[in-house]
Amino acid sequence: MAGTGCFLNIALPKGRLGENVYAMFEAAGYPCPALLENSRKLIFENPAAGVRYFWVKPSDVAIYVERGTADIGVAGKDILLEYEPDIYELLDLNTGICRMAVAAPKGFRDDTRRPLRVATKFRRVAERHYASVGREIDIIHLNGSIEIAPILGLSDVIVDIVETGTTLRENNLEVIENIFPISARLIANKASFKFKTAEIERLVREISEKTGVV
Ligand code: PRP
Repeated sequence: MAGTGCFLNIALPKGRLGENVYAMFEAAGYPCPALLENSRKLIFENPAAGVRYFWVKPSDVAIYVERGTADIGVAGKDILLEYEPDIYELLDLNTGICRMAVAAPKGFRDDTRRPLRVATKFRRVAERHYASVGREIDIIHLNGSIEIAPILGLSDVIVDIVETGTTLRENNLEVIENIFPISARLIANKASFKFKTAEIERLVREISEKTGVV
């Protein structure tokens, strides 16, 4: 790739997941050491390896990739199912593992005579889930600290990500239904995949081989 002048632009989710994922790219032969320096910079490139990395908010990665600002990126399956971006999903990176679940205060009983009040950041996921079981809901769209909603009586249940389960436990909530498992996915812009097929396929192959993900 060196000397071809063809950079691969890669959007990584800022935070712990992004750092784990960067380690996979590095192991696969796409290093960019400056990335891990303690700095507020958001764009890094390594011409020798033919890569340019961007740190973006995890929920924004798919936007950069869908619009082609990034050729590839790493996004959670939760984001892909919520926003359904028009991208290719290339690889399950088998990291960032958690699940989407419905949780409620311990002992919760659904009163089916009225719509269920559901607090969530994942409006479409929640709507699809309850449409599939024919339950009428009233969505309360929040941006974070979702667990607090049923405790304060703002909602009956929440639809949210559960990783270790600690947040639920510490707030006296419990999972009442699992909706789907989540892991980080390598995604690609459709046009980039067409024009940089060899580079992207090589990266996918190297990541699969070096990290054992399929
Ligand atoms: C996520 C999720 C849960 C928590 C689950 O929140 O929305 O609140 O992590 O993790 P656990 O099962 O390991 O406790 P995040 O940290 O992204 O914060 P926010 O949704 O409140 O902004």
